[in-house]
Amino acid sequence: MIINGKQYQTIWMEGNTIHTIEQNKLPEEFEIITIDTLEDVAKSISTMIIRGAPAIGAMGAFGLAQAIQKMEVPNKVDITNVRDFLFESRPTAYDLQHGLDFVVNETLSRSEPAIMKKTAMESAQSYVDASAEACRKIGEYGNTIVQDGDKLLTHCNAGALATVDYGTALAPMRIAHENGKNIFIFVDETRPRLQGAKLTAFELHEEGIPHAVIADNAAGFFMARGDVDMVITGTDRVASNGDVANKIGTYEKAVVAHENGIPVYIAAPISTIDFTCPTGKDIPIEVRDENEVLDVNGLRVVSQGSGALNPAFDVTPAKYITGIITEQGIFNPSELDKIFRL
Ligand code: MRU
Repeated sequence: MIINGKQYQTIWMEGNTIHTIEQNKLPEEFEIITIDTLEDVAKSISTMIIRGAPAIGAMGAFGLAQAIQKMEVPNKVDITNVRDFLFESRPTAYDLQHGLDFVVNETLSRSEPAIMKKTAMESAQSYVDASAEACRKIGEYGNTIVQDGDKLLTHCNAGALATVDYGTALAPMRIAHENGKNIFIFVDETRPRLQGAKLTAFELHEEGIPHAVIADNAAGFFMARGDVDMVITGTDRVASNGDVANKIGTYEKAVVAHENGIPVYIAAPISTIDFTCPTGKDIPIEVRDENEVLDVNGLRVVSQGSGALNPAFDVTPAKYITGIITEQGIFNPSELDKIFRL
């Protein structure tokens, strides 16, 4: 992704140090932070310094590899304990589990301590590289359904910041724009944490893609007026029946889009599909601190004495989804069994 005219990835590793963009400070401040301890890896995920399903999968993979370097003699018990500790930092995104399990399995396939450490590092890096490449391909497949002149709506941030690079929902928009297609993006602000207003608008602005932030409540207005040609969002977990969990509010957008005959596409790498999860009802939904709702930008907007409820994700049933854009092509949610996982 381009930030201040320079090319960046959301996360990378140099030696045994992890580098990532501090997303809680965007768009006001652009800060790269370094992470050297297991506690800070978990904290970076739970406090959403890094967020978005593929990005936290990458952080999990690098974090586990970093921890393995510090083990005197890497072994199954310690590696599994670190895996379980990191896995608890956010429950909904399947990529976190996928990234952790990839490094665990590769590392435990070796037995000599030095080779295990080397394998942990190499497998984490290859997981992260493959994740970025999957998003690039999502962009190429997604671009085939974006027409010149289209107005697209997206929810939350499923851009490069939510992945290693390119994004999922934003990848087709990037490639369409690069190919000279004239597109416009409606960006839902995405309360309570405002990932649309703070992160998606920032990315689109940096890339020069025409867009406007809209209040979450305004999406139905624009859809009913015929202003929206297509909805594209990301997802944190796809169940094997094609139901998807994504940022709270996605379900509403999908229902209103369906009512107005607007196609709804979900963009996701295959690492987000949980083939062991039968339906959306089986997806664990993270509930976050009520202060995220009670405050806006750290400022209390609700009268003292009132509480809040803060589910971070909701589930959109497969019947509202036109297609799932993956790195292997675009699938109907009912045909996920055609997908091949490496
Ligand atoms: O709570 P967040 O900001 O991690 O939620 C992010 C989303 O809901 C994204 O749409 C999803 O992770 C897909 S990211 C490519």
